[in-house]
Amino acid sequence: MTNDNQSLRGFLETVEQEFPEEILRIREPVSRNLEMTSVVFELDRLGKSPVVIFENIEGTKTPVVTNIAGNRKLLAHCLNAEARNLPTAFRDRCQNYIPCEVVSRGAWDDIVLEGDQVDLTQLPIPFQFSVDAAPYITAGQICARDPETGVDTTGFHRLMLKGKNRLGISLHSRRRMYEFHRRAEARGQSLPAAIVIGTHPLHYMGSMVYAYPPHVRKYEIIGGLFGEPYRLARCGVNNIEVPAGAEIVIEGEILAGVHEPEGPFGEFTGYASYRSTQNVFVAHRVRMRRDALFHSVVSGMSRDHILISCITREGEILNALRRNLPNVKAVHVPHKTCGAFLAIVSMKKIAEGEPKMAMLTALGTELYTKHVIVVDDDVDIFDMEDVMWAVATRVRAEKDIFLVPGVKSAIIDPTSDPKTFTVTKMGIDATAPLNENFAERLTISDAQRTRARQILGNAGVTA
Ligand SMILES: Cc1cc2nc3c(=O)[nH]c(=O)nc-3n(C[C@H](O)[C@H](O)[C@H](O)COP(=O)(O)O)c2cc1C
Repeated sequence: MTNDNQSLRGFLETVEQEFPEEILRIREPVSRNLEMTSVVFELDRLGKSPVVIFENIEGTKTPVVTNIAGNRKLLAHCLNAEARNLPTAFRDRCQNYIPCEVVSRGAWDDIVLEGDQVDLTQLPIPFQFSVDAAPYITAGQICARDPETGVDTTGFHRLMLKGKNRLGISLHSRRRMYEFHRRAEARGQSLPAAIVIGTHPLHYMGSMVYAYPPHVRKYEIIGGLFGEPYRLARCGVNNIEVPAGAEIVIEGEILAGVHEPEGPFGEFTGYASYRSTQNVFVAHRVRMRRDALFHSVVSGMSRDHILISCITREGEILNALRRNLPNVKAVHVPHKTCGAFLAIVSMKKIAEGEPKMAMLTALGTELYTKHVIVVDDDVDIFDMEDVMWAVATRVRAEKDIFLVPGVKSAIIDPTSDPKTFTVTKMGIDATAPLNENFAERLTISDAQRTRARQILGNAGVTA
């Protein structure tokens, strides 16, 4: 087997060896119906987020691997970074594009099923929330080439199981895949595409990057994250190259001019989503490893679904801000804001107007970022109570809040207009004014703290 350090199973091996407490193998028989999702949500309630491998799914021999992206420590290890430096490590590495290496054969070429042999219902595709319209492939990286330039892309898009060779697909992010399909459709053609299941978490991370030049391949960004060329092999559709170490490849096309109901689906917003671009993928060929693992992302507002979005957005917004504002300290996109809709920026304000500049930049970085709060650098942006204290005590609503109506936004955002998918974006400047004699924050010095701990220790109180 080649490509191990860049494959899902290579990642699992590393976790098993170096962080055995962060991998959980469930050997008891488990149903595809709702059980896998609720196990991971229950672990989260217990404050745990290990990689979970369901080894015994009823009706199949294929194990399901899930929650590979729900753990900061493991993701940081993939980038040789400390957990607290993850957004910065991501930000640095994803700007270092490394050309790919094409190898002659993919590990997924053991078994090839074509024509009538294709039967996607044989895969252990979980049915995740009771509201879902059907079982969903949630860890399918869709790979395709721009019909105009030939540059390829890769990204997750939810895939609703509709039949043996038919999947509903939603391209609601309206990024490259949406545009490639639109360009193909404008020529009256379907878009040849491959669905890749079972890749390394750095592929997941790199595929979420959205601010990069049009000639750059996402695979080159993923190579930057690995710190070496990403190894690809050519599959059988439109010369599309896919990761050589992947588990399963489904070749086919996203149809031109065909729209069918897709959804509802339990989305990362924490709501059932009925919104979709309602496209259709038809599978022509399946290739897989003999002992393939099936990767599934836990949907809904799980860590598995959201943590990487938090990290990539923090990194991307930081990249955009640092170009003009070196005094920006950090950015936080909290999990509970769906890893998407709110960004908190901390800065050492030098001049009035800088928070507004930062907010306009952050709001314009991409469509999902809807609210931005800027705070001074004495506020801990990873502590929402501290952020709310700054909002409560430093915001003068008549001056410090601005609204930008009618901005293109996320289709999946339940507040976006159901026809135009626009929202009103909001900036909140929660920094204290510079030149007024503004109230002084109460502090307790480190020396006082040390003395207090000593007094408490003597009284029998320890942490
Ligand atoms: C687990 C997961 C599922 C996703 N599902 C979808 C989806 O169904 N549709 C969509 O447009 N974007 C979805 N996204 C976001 C896209 O993957 C992301 O915007 C990506 O950068 C799009 O790539 P592209 O530029 O190749 O279109 C999902 C992201 C994650 C992490």
